[in-house]
Amino acid sequence: MMNVSGLPKKVSIFEVGARDGLQNEKAVTTQDKLTLIEQLAEAGITRIEAGSFVSPKWVPQMADSGEVFTQLNQHNQRKAGVVYSALTPNLKGLELALDAGADEVAIFGAASETFSQRNINCSIAESIARFEPVMALAKAKNIPVRGYVSCVLGCPYEGDIDINEVARVSEILYKMGCYEISLGDTIGVGTPIKARKMVEAVAKLVPVEKLALHFHDTYGQALANIQACLDTGVSVIDSSVAGLGGCPYAKGASGNLATEDVVYMLHGMGIETGVDLTKLAKAGNQISQALGRDNGSKVAKAISAD
Ligand code: HMG
Ligand code: MG
Repeated sequence: MMNVSGLPKKVSIFEVGARDGLQNEKAVTTQDKLTLIEQLAEAGITRIEAGSFVSPKWVPQMADSGEVFTQLNQHNQRKAGVVYSALTPNLKGLELALDAGADEVAIFGAASETFSQRNINCSIAESIARFEPVMALAKAKNIPVRGYVSCVLGCPYEGDIDINEVARVSEILYKMGCYEISLGDTIGVGTPIKARKMVEAVAKLVPVEKLALHFHDTYGQALANIQACLDTGVSVIDSSVAGLGGCPYAKGASGNLATEDVVYMLHGMGIETGVDLTKLAKAGNQISQALGRDNGSKVAKAISAD
């Protein structure tokens, strides 16, 4: 639903800190991850990406994802109404995610051939073929699947990416049955007008209410890019508490957009998120402390200094 200004009344935050964030930080303990996930839920986040079932040789930081989900399920640490999801690049990943009890999974492709090769070791066309059996098994098990498209505003290897290619790959994932397509500015190189044009191009092929913005903040443009897209009808935003992370196969992708920063901006614009900013900042401070790094959110720093 939109308000009079053409802005959404409500935005759904899809929190990726425990996955996209922590996959690119030094390893923390499984307990640190569980504490983070619990605190995010307590702060009112209802969609939490809690892990990734990828090769542990490629991303060792996510090797304990099975344990994270098992503990969440066995020790009653789940919060009612919260969806806990995981990345699954192939059938093996989905089987592991199902065994561990993930509520929802995500496949991830790219709009750049070179990035696809470097990230998941196959071409775009091969990745689509790999996703077919994932979609079929997920459907049989009644598990919703989200679809990511990387490099929507630029690629670390190929530079500029044609927005028509972004739209083409997005439409394929949507038509395969992904309930939502998350548009990833993987290396945070986008700027507002380009971001908006890209969303408009994708929205010609995929209903805009099925799109999410996943903008990394490497060049400090993510909030501006989001603002430029908010009146297109998009109302789902991916972000990472404390600005954790990046992508191991995208040099320079140092940090996602901080959830605290986008929630502060949205609340200031009169847009609801259901998130308690003070509790969120505490969650971000705690995981930053466990990592021995600064909290990457300006808003969290300001709140914590009060
Ligand atoms: P591959 O080498 O082509 O796959 O890797 P394979 O099927 O030949 O298997 C090779 C080995 O991996 C085998 O083990 C498999 O068992 C194992 P070995 O016999 O050598 O001991 N394997 C697995 N193990 C655990 N879970 C699995 C799995 N699959 C195979 N699911 C693969 C293909 C996709 C597995 C590999 O390239 C990989 O794991 N890549 C990791 C990519 C990744 O995690 N990237 C970061 C996430 S994407 C991202 O951050 C972008 C996003 O945020 C959006 C944006 O910002 O743009 C989503
Ligand atoms: Mg990402």
